[in-house]
Amino acid sequence: MTATEPALPAGTVALVTGANKGIGYQTARKLAARGATVLVGARDAERGAAAVTDLAAGGGDVRLCVLDVTDQASVTAAADRIARDFGKLDILVNNAGVLVDQGVPVLEVTADQLRRTYETNVFGVVAVTSALAPLLAKSGRGRVVNLSSSLGSLSVNAAEPERLAPYQLLAYNSSKSALNALTLMYANALKDAGVKVNSAEPGYVATDLNGHAGFGTAEEGAEVVVRLATLDQDGPTASFQSATAQLPW
Ligand SMILES: NC(=O)c1ccc[n+]([C@@H]2O[C@H](COP(=O)([O-])OP(=O)(O)OC[C@H]3O[C@@H](n4cnc5c(N)ncnc54)[C@H](OP(=O)(O)O)[C@@H]3O)[C@@H](O)[C@H]2O)c1
Repeated sequence: MTATEPALPAGTVALVTGANKGIGYQTARKLAARGATVLVGARDAERGAAAVTDLAAGGGDVRLCVLDVTDQASVTAAADRIARDFGKLDILVNNAGVLVDQGVPVLEVTADQLRRTYETNVFGVVAVTSALAPLLAKSGRGRVVNLSSSLGSLSVNAAEPERLAPYQLLAYNSSKSALNALTLMYANALKDAGVKVNSAEPGYVATDLNGHAGFGTAEEGAEVVVRLATLDQDGPTASFQSATAQLPW
């Protein structure tokens, strides 16, 4: 922990979906380093347990939470467990995501590819957020961060079609546009409960998702995620932010 990264309030509980690797793993690590109890979401128990072992070696209270965001029974079981063990949730990071149409021309993307993408990137976020909203409301200072992308910004797509031409991923980009719409509506619905909901753009960082083609590191990508997850009471809700800027929807 550094002077610019103060400890979180005692008893802070965080859930990061898809935290067994990539940006989710680094987010879990940073939140644990600041004193949160971090539930490491992983759809595969073995991969999750391996990540928890690695994270625990760095210190902090990290615990496995087997969670497949596309499986309602798995989501319900995770929510029940958090209710039983903690009675509230302070931070939810909707990080789990897939990219299935890498390299597929727009006109060749199938409805099935769109469905598979939306199952995780959109419907999974709805399943998890709606199941955990009552526990976030009990926090009194709940924070939700949705892992979005500037590729999902309708304004950027409309303004800069040539620049974005190499990154026209019909399923992935539109799933992040839909996710941004969810951010705005959940922010509105949870405002009175003191829950702030924001979209994060982690930057193009090297992970398995993009075959490690990204320029930055997963650790760098996690910085804006952690910032939005740990906003104080004066922080924004219903915003879309990268590490350095406020992004247009
Ligand atoms: N990397 C970038 O440049 C970039 C840029 C903008 C936004 N993002 C977003 O950042 C998030 C994290 O991406 P990443 O780059 O860190 O990718 P990653 O390394 O591929 O990690 C994705 C994580 O999501 C998990 N996951 C996938 N489907 C799941 C499901 N149904 N239930 C639970 N977990 C599931 C994966 O688990 P398994 O290990 O079991 O597959 C993995 O832990 C994604 O939402 C992505 O769209 C990434």
